[in-house]
Amino acid sequence: MDISMKGKTVLVTGATNGIGLVTARELARMGAQVTIVSRNAEKCAVVAEAIKTGTGNPVEFIAADLSTLAGIRQAAATFKQHHARLHVLVNNAGGFFIRRYLTSDGFEMTFVLNHLNYFLLTNLLLDILKASAPACVVNVASGTHRGAKMDFDNLQGEKGYNGVRAYGQSKLANILFTYELARRLKDTGVTTNALHPGYVNTGISLNNGLFFQVFVRLTARLFGRKPEEGAQTSIYLASSPQLAGVTGKYFADCQPVKSSPLSYDEELAKKLWQVSLELTGKGV
Ligand SMILES: NC(=O)c1ccc[n+]([C@@H]2O[C@H](COP(=O)([O-])OP(=O)(O)OC[C@H]3O[C@@H](n4cnc5c(N)ncnc54)[C@H](OP(=O)(O)O)[C@@H]3O)[C@@H](O)[C@H]2O)c1
Repeated sequence: MDISMKGKTVLVTGATNGIGLVTARELARMGAQVTIVSRNAEKCAVVAEAIKTGTGNPVEFIAADLSTLAGIRQAAATFKQHHARLHVLVNNAGGFFIRRYLTSDGFEMTFVLNHLNYFLLTNLLLDILKASAPACVVNVASGTHRGAKMDFDNLQGEKGYNGVRAYGQSKLANILFTYELARRLKDTGVTTNALHPGYVNTGISLNNGLFFQVFVRLTARLFGRKPEEGAQTSIYLASSPQLAGVTGKYFADCQPVKSSPLSYDEELAKKLWQVSLELTGKGV
């Protein structure tokens, strides 16, 4: 089915590479007015130009570091300066960090980029999402949430850090956040769903040193999907008319699937919301 996104305003984070880039490009191809967000202005400009050339549809960009609270606030404020409406927010920017890094705010990188970023950006944009209803928030999570738990006593690896565990926890947080947001947005016309893109050959993990880089490149090339395939569920959740009113679900391969039993724990989701609110100072 040919879907038109004409008249729809879309924001995709982490769209200079991988899954986010393909998502932004295909939504622009459907006619959406797309804004992309990533750290590097030059890289954003090159990608925006390439999308415009490929689709005939101009793309705007905001250069912002979504691992800092100031960067997230700047991205939201800049978007609002230029747009009174937002129909689709795709929270996609994320990363895997084998070592523990602290950001300038003193947050552990995985936790802030993969979770607090989704939480704060969404909350800062909720007013214009609600004003644009029907609207939706798409959260790119991961199947790696399945073995994970929320360790509130060691939330940011203060007492011991393991990159795989931190990544899994951040992706479980994406799903807990999605389900809690869906409950809070009941009857607003704003829906939200999370997804697993599959194992995708992108730039993820290439920041973790040469050995890791070689290993990841090789395995992703052998076993990973192409970004075009990995982006399909994001594109589907962002654009399909079949999903009108569908909220609080987790998808893989464009189908609703069950997430881990822990991800349905409402008390855990409320606790995560409260902690995220205290850390960022913003939430509904
Ligand atoms: N690849 C997989 O197998 C896989 C599987 C499950 C889930 N995922 C999820 O899919 C999402 C996209 O990942 P990907 O695989 O497409 O990764 P990718 O190729 O590394 O792309 C990541 C994007 O995020 C941006 N980004 C990174 N750090 C940022 C920051 N501090 N501020 C703003 N933007 C930032 C990057 O842009 P700049 O570097 O230009 O800033 C890039 O555009 C992530 O949430 C990831 O957890 C991926």
